[in-house]
Amino acid sequence: MNAVRFHEYGPPEALRFEQVPRPVAGAGEVLVRVRAAGVNPGDWQMRSGWAAEKFGLSLTLPFTPGYDLAGVVEAAGPGTERYRIGDRVFGMTATAGAYAEYAAVPASRLAPLPVELDDEQAAGVPMSAFTAWTAVHGQALLSPGQTALINGASGGVGHFAVQFAKLAGARVIAVTSGRNRAFADSLGADEVFDYTADDWAELEGAADAVIDTVGGERTDALVRSVRQGGTLVPVGWGQYSPALAETIGVRVQELLMAPFDADRLARIGERLASGDLRVEIGAAMRLAEAASAHALSESRRARGKIVLRTEA
Ligand SMILES: NC(=O)c1ccc[n+]([C@@H]2O[C@H](COP(=O)([O-])OP(=O)(O)OC[C@H]3O[C@@H](n4cnc5c(N)ncnc54)[C@H](OP(=O)(O)O)[C@@H]3O)[C@@H](O)[C@H]2O)c1
Repeated sequence: MNAVRFHEYGPPEALRFEQVPRPVAGAGEVLVRVRAAGVNPGDWQMRSGWAAEKFGLSLTLPFTPGYDLAGVVEAAGPGTERYRIGDRVFGMTATAGAYAEYAAVPASRLAPLPVELDDEQAAGVPMSAFTAWTAVHGQALLSPGQTALINGASGGVGHFAVQFAKLAGARVIAVTSGRNRAFADSLGADEVFDYTADDWAELEGAADAVIDTVGGERTDALVRSVRQGGTLVPVGWGQYSPALAETIGVRVQELLMAPFDADRLARIGERLASGDLRVEIGAAMRLAEAASAHALSESRRARGKIVLRTEA
């Protein structure tokens, strides 16, 4: 089968489109004929060697990246009765490997794919939607009438976080660059703050909770935008001044990895099918173009999700 692998850590060009043996579904697994795979920053953080260095994670090379996928059940391993051959599914692999025509996935990490969603849309959902859902409900604990500030509102996690915060009844301030203003409006944001032009001082104490999917230089301004007693949820690895957070009385609830939950994914699928929630596919490319997809993701300019389709 065709797959994308890297044989050594390096730039996007380290990704090679090549022929590899098709995996076999083990006990409790199904073999998914992958129609589309989602691209997440974690994929290039692994490919570049950054994750290995940061977390002492040692990958067995060559390595096929990718966790999010959507496709069709091709075969079921022993003890797997939940899905039938031909069922459309989406979900997350346990140990990467989604950038390929087939992937063996624990049946417990899949959900039925509603007919209203196409494969590309579905592949853009799992990891980002879980992360956003957990940030809103597990960490920020948003309740109706509260104000949430979402930094990076136009990104994979951010565009779901805006929508989940609105569904939770919160007022949402979306932080994006000017070119994403209309997109943030379309997601239901009540206010859009253009970080390239607007004055951060205006946001001081503005939010009950800040969900930060960006980190970087402006972390002090983000801490100041939380009201006293409010919550800052860093998604990723921003550097925050604990002294400043303590002075203002901000609770910092870091979110590194949202737990997988197949029932939640099924419910998210239902919300997408009903139109309560949407996924923005900013770029859909061929599997063979994985290096370009990584370069785009790494540029931090992608809108919504990037997906790779396995068929031309
Ligand atoms: N994807 C996941 O499921 C997941 C899971 C766990 C952790 N994380 C971490 O969460 C972070 C975000 O992931 P993601 O998938 O949402 O990233 P992403 O989709 O690559 O984010 C891209 C977006 O970030 C915005 N952005 C870039 N610089 C910004 C700035 N200074 N201020 C405000 N917005 C800015 C861009 O909008 P503009 O062009 O308008 O600037 C762009 O739309 C990453 O560090 C990732 O490692 C992600």
